Amino acid sequence: MKHLSIDELKRANARHLWHPMASPQASQHAPPDIIVRGEGSWIWDVDGHRLVDGVAGLWSVNLGFGRQEIRDAIVAQLDELAYYNVFRGTTHPRAIELAERVVGLMEPDGVAAVFFSNGGSDAVEGALKLARQYWKLQGEADRVKFIALRQGYHGVHFGGMSVNGNNKFRRPYEPLLPGCFHIDTPWLYRNPYSDDPVRLGAICAELLEREILFQSADTVAAFIAEPVQGAGGVIVPPPNYWPAIRRVCDKYGVLLIADEVVTGFGRTGHLFGTRLWGVQADLWWLAKGISSGYIPLGATAVAARVAQVFATSSSPLATITHGYTYSAHPVAAAAALASLEILERDQVVANAASQGAYFNERLADIARHSRLIGDVRGIGLMACLELVSDQATRAPLKGSARETGLVAREAYKRGAMVRTSGPNIILSPALTIERSQIDLLCDALAGAFKAVEG
Ligand SMILES: Cc1ncc(COP(=O)(O)O)c(C=O)c1O
Repeated sequence: MKHLSIDELKRANARHLWHPMASPQASQHAPPDIIVRGEGSWIWDVDGHRLVDGVAGLWSVNLGFGRQEIRDAIVAQLDELAYYNVFRGTTHPRAIELAERVVGLMEPDGVAAVFFSNGGSDAVEGALKLARQYWKLQGEADRVKFIALRQGYHGVHFGGMSVNGNNKFRRPYEPLLPGCFHIDTPWLYRNPYSDDPVRLGAICAELLEREILFQSADTVAAFIAEPVQGAGGVIVPPPNYWPAIRRVCDKYGVLLIADEVVTGFGRTGHLFGTRLWGVQADLWWLAKGISSGYIPLGATAVAARVAQVFATSSSPLATITHGYTYSAHPVAAAAALASLEILERDQVVANAASQGAYFNERLADIARHSRLIGDVRGIGLMACLELVSDQATRAPLKGSARETGLVAREAYKRGAMVRTSGPNIILSPALTIERSQIDLLCDALAGAFKAVEG
């Protein structure tokens, strides 16, 4: 197969490739970086420039690049069985083994079954449907509504977009799914309620209760939240929030859905974000880290009490008439099995916790020396630097928040790949990152802020 030259790649990208979450016009003016190789937490661009990957692909390559065991598992699976479906009537060994593994990992969380998809958005869509179906099986067909958080991100399909809490992702595609409502996020840095985290957690849980009552509890299917909001700006809720929302959901019989697409498999320094808060959900959305991003894969994990209803109902509606050709794709399942093996064997989650603590300290230090950073927040190996135009008043950056782009370019020049989203610089390195690489990433960021702030 003939590959394109560097110049041809750059030209063809500008001409023919539309990028997710980017305007085709902007991609012409500011061409994307072409990444050609990865090894551990290092990546190289097409011009031979080496960088520490502060993004882990896209919160996904949690075990770093170039893992021989994952590669071997993929190749062996391609040799053995490249594809077979798991629709009614057939299955295959890797799907079964991965289901065993995921349910085994999540047994302490009360999980009994898992439904595979191709990525996070697919997992979201499937679970929204399963939640409605669950209530029909329970004889409460009116429970169709979803309540979610502002700033939440739940993928891009119509259901996920409708529960997303950021207007930017919703507006171009409206009208969305009816019956989706949003309440305020317990966001310490920006909220009209309280500067006290515990009080804020309690108030925001009360907002959920009020919304459920306003909608009428017997019409609400589920409440949805990320244990730590990722794309919305790494918003870490106060520790009393999740236990409180679990209590509210229980009081009104509302299902609690945890979107663990980012937080699942160790990113917060805990195996799952719900464990960080000591709470069990009813449905979990998983993707990214499940296969370390080597092959697309998502999953919806189902708590025993929900699975039980599907397993015992005699209703014709108990058939799951949802699924994708590539649900539990054997090659993706093989990649996931190898990834989960490494995750456990190498105690990767413990590394995320200890490196994460150091990482967040270093970022706090960068913030102390900057006049652009208004807030630094994070947990484990997910972090956000929120830039402001005035630190004292917390006034947001003006217009298109060009400062974040400038900082990211300067960091890139200094050997660090970081991600920007509006006023935020978002960081999510591999969970296997080493301390020296964190230092490099943070030194590059510190230098970038100095260069931009002058
Ligand atoms: C919390 C969360 N949910 C869902 C999704 C959607 O996943 P995907 O992009 O794999 O469809 C994402 C993607 O970043 C996410 O961060």
